[in-house]
Amino acid sequence: MKPDLKVDIGGVIIKNPVMVASGTFGYGEEFDQHINLNALGGIVTKSITLEERPGHPAPRTCETKAGMLNAIGLANVGIHRFIEEKLPFLEKFDTAIIVNVAGSSVAEYVEVCRLLESAGRFDMIELNVSCPNVDKGGIEFGTDPEALTKIVKEIVKATTRPIMVKLSPNVTSIVDMAKAAQKGGASSISLVNTLVGMAIDIRTRKPMLSNGTGGLSGPAIKPVAVAMVHKIFGNIDIPIIGLGGISSWEDAIEFMLVGATAIQVGTANFIDPTSSVKIVTGLEKYLKKNKISDISQLVGQVRK
Ligand SMILES: Cc1cc2nc3c(=O)[nH]c(=O)nc-3n(C[C@H](O)[C@H](O)[C@H](O)COP(=O)(O)O)c2cc1C
Repeated sequence: MKPDLKVDIGGVIIKNPVMVASGTFGYGEEFDQHINLNALGGIVTKSITLEERPGHPAPRTCETKAGMLNAIGLANVGIHRFIEEKLPFLEKFDTAIIVNVAGSSVAEYVEVCRLLESAGRFDMIELNVSCPNVDKGGIEFGTDPEALTKIVKEIVKATTRPIMVKLSPNVTSIVDMAKAAQKGGASSISLVNTLVGMAIDIRTRKPMLSNGTGGLSGPAIKPVAVAMVHKIFGNIDIPIIGLGGISSWEDAIEFMLVGATAIQVGTANFIDPTSSVKIVTGLEKYLKKNKISDISQLVGQVRK
């Protein structure tokens, strides 16, 4: 018997729980030659802002012992070019399209969502309120529960699509932030975005990144992310999408056991562009081997 890998993300049924994370998969096109995009549960685009952004000057990434630091500065083509040049490519695929939206004011987020409303096919909006690498906007909505509820409420009014709110781990109480997102009308939450980090080149005595600090991602942050999903599970009624350091199907199951309905693969895409599809195959094999008919049966099943 073929196990059921479908999961329900706040009203959107996706064919399997494996999505690719924002900023690590471009606009999808970049990976088309490496993997079958139709095999994925969903594709989350790079964060889109109202205007095109060049981002920070190089160097904007550096490798660390168990991951990487990045301070890209939300480089992206802007909403108009995204709708004209990028969305038509993505629409062709039989996978959920999640457009990640960022901004520096409530008005900017709302305007991007409003413009998307009449664009082509996409299934959900992921709200990036958690980018640690820009001076203005993003992170302040992601660290203040009241500001978060307020912005989510405004965006819910501007769109018919379900909203997935992406939370920052750089907060005192992740549970309060998850509750604030739900209060605003989020259909699901995703976590984590990167953790603030820094690395110094001791020869030049300068930071490795032009921005000084950056966001840490990859295997190093996985236990932090697993603990945060675990903390939130049971405190909200909307699905949790877990991410942070996932590079194998075993990692994906770990996240699901602590309460993630679905997962996203980020930094692992840079190491092995086929890792996301390998995770889908691995999950299917695991379910068959363990005679689990429906992947949702794993969600929150961690034992004490
Ligand atoms: C190079 C790079 C660029 C990123 N850009 C974005 C972005 O534009 N928007 C966003 O919400 N997250 C962005 N992220 C964060 C990832 O989507 C993800 O939350 C984070 O890297 C943790 O997952 P991982 O450890 O699997 O990479 C970026 C991460 C990296 C490494």
